[in-house]
Amino acid sequence: MKDATPQPIRLADYTPPPFLVEGVALTFRLAPRATRVTSRIRFRRNPDAQAQDLRLDGEGLRLISATIDGVPITAQPDATGLTLPGGDLPDAFDWAAEVEIAPEENTALEGLYMSNGMYCTQCEAEGFRKITFYPDRPDVMAPFTVRVESELPVLLSNGNPSAQGDGWAEWDDPWPKPAYLFALVAGDLVAHSDAFATASGRAVALNVWVRPGDEGRCAYAMDSLKRSMRWDEEAYGREYDLDVFNIVAVDDFNMGAMENKGLNVFNSKYVLASSETATDADFDNIERIVAHEYFHNWTGNRITCRDWFQLCLKEGLTVFRDQQFSADMRSAAVKRIEDVLSLRARQFREDQGPLAHPVRPDSYHEINNFYTATVYEKGAEIIRMLRTLVGEDGYDAGVRLYFDRHDGQACTIEDWLAVFAEATGRDLSQFARWYAQAGTPRLRVTEDWDEGTGRFTLTLEQSTPPTPGQPDKAPQVIPVAVGLLGPAGDEIMATRVIEMTDTRHSLTIEGMPARPVPSILRGFSAPVVVEHAVTPERRAFLMAHDTDPFSRWEAGRGLAREILVAMVRDGAAPGPDYLDALAVTLSDERLDPAFRALCLRAPSEDDIAQALVDAGETPDPMAIHTARERFQRAIAAHMDDGLARAFIAMETPGPYSPDARDAGRRALRLAALAYLSRNDGGDRAARLFAGADNMTEQMGALGALLQVGAGQSEVARFHRQWAHDRLVVDKWFAVQVALAAPESAVETARSLTRHPDFDWKNPNRFRSVLGALATNAAGFHAPGGAGYALLADWLIQLDPVNPQTAARLSTAFETWRRYDPARQGAMRAALERIRATPDLSRDLSEMTARMLG
Ligand code: ARG
Ligand code: ZN
Repeated sequence: MKDATPQPIRLADYTPPPFLVEGVALTFRLAPRATRVTSRIRFRRNPDAQAQDLRLDGEGLRLISATIDGVPITAQPDATGLTLPGGDLPDAFDWAAEVEIAPEENTALEGLYMSNGMYCTQCEAEGFRKITFYPDRPDVMAPFTVRVESELPVLLSNGNPSAQGDGWAEWDDPWPKPAYLFALVAGDLVAHSDAFATASGRAVALNVWVRPGDEGRCAYAMDSLKRSMRWDEEAYGREYDLDVFNIVAVDDFNMGAMENKGLNVFNSKYVLASSETATDADFDNIERIVAHEYFHNWTGNRITCRDWFQLCLKEGLTVFRDQQFSADMRSAAVKRIEDVLSLRARQFREDQGPLAHPVRPDSYHEINNFYTATVYEKGAEIIRMLRTLVGEDGYDAGVRLYFDRHDGQACTIEDWLAVFAEATGRDLSQFARWYAQAGTPRLRVTEDWDEGTGRFTLTLEQSTPPTPGQPDKAPQVIPVAVGLLGPAGDEIMATRVIEMTDTRHSLTIEGMPARPVPSILRGFSAPVVVEHAVTPERRAFLMAHDTDPFSRWEAGRGLAREILVAMVRDGAAPGPDYLDALAVTLSDERLDPAFRALCLRAPSEDDIAQALVDAGETPDPMAIHTARERFQRAIAAHMDDGLARAFIAMETPGPYSPDARDAGRRALRLAALAYLSRNDGGDRAARLFAGADNMTEQMGALGALLQVGAGQSEVARFHRQWAHDRLVVDKWFAVQVALAAPESAVETARSLTRHPDFDWKNPNRFRSVLGALATNAAGFHAPGGAGYALLADWLIQLDPVNPQTAARLSTAFETWRRYDPARQGAMRAALERIRATPDLSRDLSEMTARMLG
């Protein structure tokens, strides 16, 4: 029977585990429908815990036998595990059990499952309980040994290989780890192999394991891995700690990748790349995600989380570390802008709606629903602010103390902040509010200028809007990086960081010869929305002269956003000031092409909707789409010559290289092409498509064609060319839906769900159609609600098969309260229809309940 009102898990209810695990030995006899798992677990009473029953989690397991010190147990499992009465248990004992599971029937892709005939696992957060009975909580850490028995040629698990024979292999992981880092892979796989010598001389064998035929597409992932290993030694003094490091590419995967100790499992889209099949963005993601998972070895694995409320302890820090790495590998300025774009697109949007939650939430029903932009990306912004506040040296000292003190432990945010307080002598108690308060702070900026005395005053005021469960917010510590420019565009005050702690803060500078122009929030020094009423001339001035590249980009962005908002309101057109300034940027050869490409990118339809919501207005998705289209046509018309020149000048002769320099040139070239297609009807794009020898240009050309309503023959050709390649076919599905005209997007998506290649149980394929529909804002929100109904139908169909992916995609509805009554009603009806579905998963139940409020 289903519990009518399931109770949430609360941070406040945390208690330490009553028993710890000294060692685990697992044996797997693999078979698709009847895998036998035997476990031997050495338990010891935890001296630091109160006497309690021992709960072993276990779901969907057929219990064959279980003994304690050789004596069969009498307790019977319930639907979620087994309770062993604490009073009856010795202080130390051996648990032995055998269970049977059916990986082939596991469509949720959590626990042990099968993908294309290969066995693989995904245990974070709570998947290990689908493999065997265990205290499946991150504060129970233990060394594991694993024996895998199967006829398949490659048998992998965590740690170092210890022995192998015909049909079996044994692995030994000496580093204590929580069960969520367990992994097993078995399959007909081939390796792309290499080696790495650590700073202290340990030889590490590196392998990227893929299906036969894919071994030619692993070089970039391997190269990224080696650079990550070196970087973590140099930047953080962290060395790798096993003899092997394995990466496996899996086609059916709910997320990006997973940092299992010594055996990272990846969505194949973040491993496999060749110039013909992967775009520059794919290469960029591979580098970033390989680094992210590798960096988890120290921030996540050696030091893990006490409980899942502390998820940001490992994720925020590891995202920050991967951002630092990418900044070092590529252009730091471009990387920062891209990170801010994605923060605003995903995290600010989340903070603006019913799913807003603190970076460290205080309750949940299903932890899988909290792998969010807030935990990851805002979590990383908090680390960045901390580093700004304590300085580079303070940050390094705190991090060193963290590794020294907490290696081998399961920690909390309090532990993390304490090392910085201790290493730097700073009081971080107010700073800790960043973890507890949801919502994006607003920073209102006003200026005061006294011509007579030359006194310039900048006043900052902060406020954070209410979010679910948090009506009132206290002031936060906001590091605001500020610089001043003189009227001629020269920098008269270099960047300084104002540490705002109160609601209101002023900075006064005396004796200025002329009114200075402030540049606020340089480098995006805090994840806030700046409200600063300035003239378009002022923004154009900063766009031309600011010495901080982020702020320079931001000035142009702010201008574009304001123009677009005005265009939506009253049909205005972009003035020549903006267009001229953009033309100057486009042709400024001192600027990195990647940076210029970012300046050319118009704010997205959702950005414009967010800006309208922030201004207290109701966004009309169709009006936004039309305005943005007119905006882009105005740019194309005004800058045709410059765009045509850039398109030619940015050609990348010679063989394709995914490096930042060539990728930046291609980005600018393709940004130019997208505008030019509005003038030439797609002639250049069609020629580029026909001659492209790399996927970046092929996709860029196809996108440019679809955006102007052309490209149908190219769509057909693309499919014929790539029908054999799953990852490329995903792109084929996605681009058609994402770039369909608003009137036809829903029909395009619907007809693609009937395409023979639409394998809806594969998460990448499902996302490529239904996820792409949600990114086509005007199409998804087209009047009548057909987009909402189509997505709801598919989420209802997917939920019993794969609740995690269904719940993730349901966030398309998080904006429903923004819209006019008709759209609100239709979105609400879709959500209610999902909620009313019998036997809905806990994942989707929680999401719909939170969204409906
Ligand atoms: N720890 C993984 C990573 O950030 C992601 C795991 C996501 N798990 C989940 N249940 N959504 O690299
Ligand atoms: Zn992570």
